[in-house]
Amino acid sequence: MPIVVSMINWKGGVGKTSLTLNIAAGLANTHSKRVLLIDLDAQCNLSFLAVGLSSYVAHTYTNGGPTLKSIFDAYFDRAALNPKDVILEKQVRARAGKVFTKVGIVLSHQELTLLDMKLAREKRSGKDHREETRFEIEKLSVIKNVIDSVASEYDYVLIDCPPNVNLVTQNAFFASDYYVVPAIPDFLSTVGISLINTYMDQFNQDYRSMWLYAGLPGAYGDTKFGGIIFNMVDEYGGGPKQGHSQIMTSTAAQLGAAALFKNYVTDGDGMSAAAQANLPIFAYNDLPRAQQNAEKQANYMGKVVDEFCARIV
Ligand SMILES: Nc1ncnc2c1ncn2[C@@H]1O[C@H](COP(=O)(O)OP(=O)(O)OP(=O)(O)O)[C@@H](O)[C@H]1O
Ligand SMILES: [Mg+2]
Repeated sequence: MPIVVSMINWKGGVGKTSLTLNIAAGLANTHSKRVLLIDLDAQCNLSFLAVGLSSYVAHTYTNGGPTLKSIFDAYFDRAALNPKDVILEKQVRARAGKVFTKVGIVLSHQELTLLDMKLAREKRSGKDHREETRFEIEKLSVIKNVIDSVASEYDYVLIDCPPNVNLVTQNAFFASDYYVVPAIPDFLSTVGISLINTYMDQFNQDYRSMWLYAGLPGAYGDTKFGGIIFNMVDEYGGGPKQGHSQIMTSTAAQLGAAALFKNYVTDGDGMSAAAQANLPIFAYNDLPRAQQNAEKQANYMGKVVDEFCARIV
């Protein structure tokens, strides 16, 4: 069974998407892991970065190819859909002219935002409350069912979540073993983290009791807190600069030192150059404009990936 991880933070622009892609790249590059990426954000940023904007447009719009939306459409239409048809293999860009052989992706679609309302409205009446709870669980299981059907083919599934807790996003939580929180060491990006933990505790509790009440076999497995990864850290004298280190220390004091990844990713133009080239940071040799910074950021990212492998087990 793969380890399923939701990457979440309700603060925008903290690096959820960048870290999702680069952690997948690092897991594949240096840890020989098979990774499935799921882009759950209607902004489709992970999709653009991973396969390149023009390939995304060609696949989704020119050719009408399948995306995450197709999976939900099949759920609404009670239509059969082979999840494998929705996973693109050998299309995630590893470096210039090369793709990963063991990283798959389920692309997002801009209409995903509309699906949430549809999902919320979808009510099936059952013969009793227990059956209706089972239908509610089915609504939360759309993504879990896809992952379960390809479970033997991946070591990790990384889900790039949008900054909300709607029903589509809850589908990711329901399927996940862990949630990991990328954050910038600034006040607004960290202040919400304890709230995320509170929400996740509540979801776990709700899902556990729904599972029990519906009389399903086994028990619901909680989505555990995998930790905070600090991103865009400014360094001074070999460590985070004072303002950043203060926030990191106070976050550790509030949530416990174990809540933080020891490694972090620095701020630098390598990451945006990589994004612009639709490449992971590890392809720094293909980024002449920002090569030095990109190589430095790739080293930091590599350590984050090593720690990810050690923590998320
Ligand atoms: N370590 C970094 N150094 C410099 N720029 C970075 C770094 N990490 C991410 N960025 C840039 O910051 C911007 C936001 O990153 P990203 O899109 O990954 O954040 P996000 O949390 O997914 O945003 P959203 O909430 O919109 O989904 C992007 O332009 C990205 O290239
Ligand atoms: Mg994003």
